[in-house]
Amino acid sequence: MAPIDPHSFTDSTHPLTTHISLTLYFNFSTSTITSSALLTLSSPHTGDLVLDTRNLTITSFVDPITNTHIPFHLNPVADPIKGQPLTVSLSNHSKILIGFVTSVSSSALQWLNPPQTFNKKYPFVYTQCQAIHARSIFPCQDTPTSRVRYNAKLNIPHQLSAVMSARHVERRGPVSGEAGLACDESLWCGEGRVVEEFVMEQPIPPYLFAFAVGEIGCREVGPRTRVYAEAVSSVLDAAAKEFAGTEEMIRIGERLFGEYDWERFDLLVLPPSFPYGGMENPRMVFLTPTVIKGDATGAQVVAHELAHSWTGNLITNKTNDHFWLNEGFTTYAERRIVEAVQGEEIAALNIGIGWKGLVDTVERFKDNMEFTKLLTNQEGVDPDDVYSEIPYEKGFQFLWCIERQIGRAAFDEFVKKYIAAFKFQSIDTQTFLEFLRANVPGIENDIDLKTWTEGTGIPPEAMEPVSNIYTKIVSLAHEFTQGRMPSEEEVANWHGQQWELYLENLPKSVEASQVTALDQRYRLSESKDYEVKVAFLQLAIRSRCDEYYNVVEKTLKEVGRMKYLRPLYTALVQGKEEEKIFAQRVFAETRETYHPIAQGVVESIFSKHL
Ligand code: BES
Ligand code: ZN
Repeated sequence: MAPIDPHSFTDSTHPLTTHISLTLYFNFSTSTITSSALLTLSSPHTGDLVLDTRNLTITSFVDPITNTHIPFHLNPVADPIKGQPLTVSLSNHSKILIGFVTSVSSSALQWLNPPQTFNKKYPFVYTQCQAIHARSIFPCQDTPTSRVRYNAKLNIPHQLSAVMSARHVERRGPVSGEAGLACDESLWCGEGRVVEEFVMEQPIPPYLFAFAVGEIGCREVGPRTRVYAEAVSSVLDAAAKEFAGTEEMIRIGERLFGEYDWERFDLLVLPPSFPYGGMENPRMVFLTPTVIKGDATGAQVVAHELAHSWTGNLITNKTNDHFWLNEGFTTYAERRIVEAVQGEEIAALNIGIGWKGLVDTVERFKDNMEFTKLLTNQEGVDPDDVYSEIPYEKGFQFLWCIERQIGRAAFDEFVKKYIAAFKFQSIDTQTFLEFLRANVPGIENDIDLKTWTEGTGIPPEAMEPVSNIYTKIVSLAHEFTQGRMPSEEEVANWHGQQWELYLENLPKSVEASQVTALDQRYRLSESKDYEVKVAFLQLAIRSRCDEYYNVVEKTLKEVGRMKYLRPLYTALVQGKEEEKIFAQRVFAETRETYHPIAQGVVESIFSKHL
């Protein structure tokens, strides 16, 4: 008996689930889903089986073959990180059927009222399951060690439609008898209800389960790509334009990493409260609307989520301790795609922005160096609490270092072979290192693999990009301290990324008058690019330039992407009493509009600093 994942109650002696059949009745008036899940195990099991749940009410537990009840126990005490274990005692069962209801506070779900949507007419609900939130939608072995196929029937009001990270089968009227344990027949077949059916034939870890329900429309953007969003012409048109280059990126990905195995690569643009930039849900990536800037820079986020199709979704980290295998590899792959599409200069800028992020993150973790390691020990730790740029940027640096050591051609061949060898598997850091040593003989003599994966901080072989533009921008940023602002001529060709790099490299705080002067000249506080705007506002807060607080407030109220909430709230709570009170007021007024995961993250910033 041993747990296989610090974030799951799944035990090494239990068979894993191979298939899940979900029946979901969406109740928008209570913001709950009344459901059933039929789980198929890899082999018949006798004895205890423990499933992960969070905030679920279990209504029944049945043997679907004999239709008899199976006694179960839902631990009333919730582990603060893992949730409530649901234990059932089996005798040679390989299928179990569970009836359950989600809660209004399900951590994976955000329910938006009509006023919170663009059209303001209909409600909207969507999921975010990574890292460990799938268990708040259905009972499961919520560990990326497991891989399941699934099908799902979603019963929704007929004015809405549903999308999933799965193949759409059909939209049709409800059929009598199919609700099963999920809900009453009268509800399921009620007036004005429709059923949307999906099937996911490629096995996925539970964190990649995803759906959205709302008034959703779409546009074709490529042979295997449609962009979906709230059914508003202006939003759909802008999105279609922004992502027109997607097919080219898929082809580049295939050339670099092997065949695209997921058939479709659709994009879903979510309402502004979506807590991430992007989420690599297979067949349908979820995106923040802040990537639509009208200048096709959203391509970087799409390149990243697309890259996960190989690194993360085909090869998955076994547990969150090995999260760098997902994100470090994907950051490397993303930059290779960006380099092929936008050229070496832009790729170098991205590496440079990442480098600064890495240096700053290591500094931020100086009192808790554990989380500056690639291979981490997350026992007793909430993965959302330690989410940082380390797995992305240190992971990127590690792979880039191997590439430099063996040369690009050899490294490309290695990466292709690695993906082919482990596709549709979940692996750990050890497995990666063994494969590396076996396929690149002698690598351990040239690169200190142990220091890279188990050591803290930034290894000596890590490096900044070599690029003229990069060096120029960083030195301009350093000159700002002496009061020199870049001239109009110097910034003539700057876009969002150049400004982002510049702002990130300025001193943490400067004279308030310098902040105002910079903004008067270059209007950064009005930038449509949130990366630029937020970097500027952070500088303004740290420099106690309070004339920007209304822009800060507006920004915190219009987007829920944690990449922006984190630095802005952190800068505020690190300020004087006045800033702290301001932050608390804004959060109190806005909390309800944030995704539950974002609410939790902001609360933990407050609890650390107040
Ligand atoms: N998988 C991540 C998002 C994530 C990580 C969600 C951990 C939950 C837990 C996604 O691929 C990602 O890295 N998104 C970035 C995009 C960026 C690196 C281009 C983001 O959201 O900022
Ligand atoms: Zn990622």
